[in-house]
Amino acid sequence: MYILLMGPPGAGKGTQAALLVEKFSIPHISTGDMFRAAVKEGTELGREAKKYMDAGELVPDEVTIGIVKEGLSKPNCKEGFILDGFPRTLEQAEALDKTLDDMGIKLTRVVNIFVPAEELVSRITGRRICKSCGATYHIAYNPSAQPGKCDKCNGELYQRNDDQEDTVKNRLDVYRAQTEPLIQYYKQQNVYSEIDGRQDIDKVFADVVTGIRGENS
Ligand code: AP5
Ligand code: MG
Ligand code: ZN
Repeated sequence: MYILLMGPPGAGKGTQAALLVEKFSIPHISTGDMFRAAVKEGTELGREAKKYMDAGELVPDEVTIGIVKEGLSKPNCKEGFILDGFPRTLEQAEALDKTLDDMGIKLTRVVNIFVPAEELVSRITGRRICKSCGATYHIAYNPSAQPGKCDKCNGELYQRNDDQEDTVKNRLDVYRAQTEPLIQYYKQQNVYSEIDGRQDIDKVFADVVTGIRGENS
């Protein structure tokens, strides 16, 4: 099963990807997570990516396409994957098509999680992430049992650097200008499903699963 999760910043891609990993046991490839891991490790890639991420801009295509190709070349991706946050530009989408072609793979489904802009800002500014295991919470919509502590591993929760309101607005503009046009691209490939991301996390998940089967496109 080869799935691409699309949607604006804060729509719930990471949250849904974690549930899909549990259900289908296939790898989750998130370019945002890969860049954040590189920043944490202090690598050259991390230093380069951080400049763009902190400003809410996209990391250049050649860098991003490179790390996704590397991720997809791992043997476990032949069985399936969930791509989250990639592609975000037409150039990335075309590069992905070419890579999948070379692997002899076709996308099963592109599922777009739709949430209107006004709701995204509060979702993103209220997000908290576990430093140890990466689990995602929201101070109001999906709180941990103990404030500041992860339910799964008791790790410390933190706020992403790019989750400040000013940066969020730019991320939303960048999404509209550069990523939203891909909806048309995937509609033309007849692999596109759109689901309503304004519902509870469990209801969204049920719709994502239906969407993957192509039943609500
Ligand atoms: P990335 O990490 O991909 O960020 P994003 O796309 O902006 O998306 P988010 O991770 O912010 O949101 P999400 O949809 O995963 O939502 P989540 O599940 O956490 O990218 C970060 C940066 O890296 C980019 O700005 C760019 O610089 C760079 N980058 C990454 N990919 C790139 C690419 N391909 N090309 C170039 N640059 C790239 O949920 C959000 C919050 O809402 C959470 O608190 C959650 O608990 C809550 N929530 C989730 N679902 C619900 C629900 N149904 N109801 C209520 N609350 C909910
Ligand atoms: Mg995410
Ligand atoms: Zn944790």
